[in-house]
Amino acid sequence: MTDSDSDLSDFTDDDLFSTGNIFARRELLRVGHVPERARIVGRDDEMQRVGKALGPATQGGPPRNLIIYGKTGTGKSLVSRHVSRRARDRAEENGVRFVSVYIDCSDADTETRVARRMALGVRDEVDPSLHIPTSGLGASEYYHYLWNLLEAVDVFVVILDEIDKLRDDEVLMQLSRAEESGKTDCYVGVISISNKIEYRERLNERVNSSLQDSEFVFHPYDAAQLKDILENRRDAFQADVLEDSVIPKTAALAAREHGDARKAIEIIYEAGALAEGQGDARVTESHLEDAQREAEVNRFQELVAGSTPHVKYLLRSLAILTQSRPTKDMFSTHDIYQRYKQQAEAEGSEPITQDRVYRLLKEQTFLGVTESHHTGGGRGQGSYLEHRLMRDPEIVLDALDG
Ligand SMILES: Nc1ncnc2c1ncn2[C@@H]1O[C@H](COP(=O)(O)OP(=O)(O)O)[C@@H](O)[C@H]1O
Ligand SMILES: [Mg+2]
Repeated sequence: MTDSDSDLSDFTDDDLFSTGNIFARRELLRVGHVPERARIVGRDDEMQRVGKALGPATQGGPPRNLIIYGKTGTGKSLVSRHVSRRARDRAEENGVRFVSVYIDCSDADTETRVARRMALGVRDEVDPSLHIPTSGLGASEYYHYLWNLLEAVDVFVVILDEIDKLRDDEVLMQLSRAEESGKTDCYVGVISISNKIEYRERLNERVNSSLQDSEFVFHPYDAAQLKDILENRRDAFQADVLEDSVIPKTAALAAREHGDARKAIEIIYEAGALAEGQGDARVTESHLEDAQREAEVNRFQELVAGSTPHVKYLLRSLAILTQSRPTKDMFSTHDIYQRYKQQAEAEGSEPITQDRVYRLLKEQTFLGVTESHHTGGGRGQGSYLEHRLMRDPEIVLDALDG
């Protein structure tokens, strides 16, 4: 018997396919997971508004079009998908042929892609055996399939999530005109969702007013709601694995950072994954802090990923200055520039002018990475600008090194 054989014999299938001692139902913490009603917290008004828009459709009448805005992680996708599923069930009870298709426009960002998703989505519900080519066709061919398939449908609801990522408007025009242009007898409803409230005016210009029967905003969660959301998914973890303070602490962290439920769920998942990776029996606050820190480093990395080297030298300089002076966190443009020059030269790069560095600082202020204030400096003394780094310098340095 060789060594490898004896190794293998120690290895039962239980070991081989071990799912670890931390998670029980990981899928509950996945981003696209649509939880059942009992796990959804504090979105009754929002659910009712979506329900009201879809109500007539459950009786075979025309749904109302809806536009939903709100920051990321406020439950927009969840509520829309959940309520449209329930609307479909209700419609079915009423003998109404109701089909809804969910499309994430950050994947399907062109007219052809959206038209294809709609055609395939309706096909899957209505006539799964119908073959529709997934390549080589243009938007008009997919519409053709769609309108044909919709002959067997009373109400069609399409959810266009992250609609601000959609690169052309034609599909919106097609949908808004579908009924009046006689393309279909089926009632068509559109739920448009955007994470960007600034997108509102742009959307008003872009789409026919018929797509905007009503609109409303989802607001960020507070710590108590985030805590409930996490408590309702505690069973993603094995019993007694979560240390008591982990959920409240995660909720507090996420509430401080814009009330984003997605981040809360991601961080608690990462904390669990760290505990699992380290072979620990429980998820502790320290796993949570590490997960949080890792997330911050990643986020900052994403933020600076596309920046020029000079922006990175500048941020590095400001982080180093901040770290070197425990009692001071505001620095003049001049001091920052001196440090930046050293940094650029050390990297073998020709420094840009102070004026340009100043403009880069202003850009960082706009992004919320830095903040600037005028010093007091009375008349004649000349007040000047000072800048402060709004992030933990250690995280900035880690991100820039990563
Ligand atoms: N009210 C809620 N109750 C339970 N889970 C929620 C709630 N709101 C959001 N979530 C969860 O948080 C994550 C982000 O929600 P999502 O609907 O994707 O936000 P948005 O679309 O607004 O960015 C998802 O995993 C979702 O299941
Ligand atoms: Mg979403």
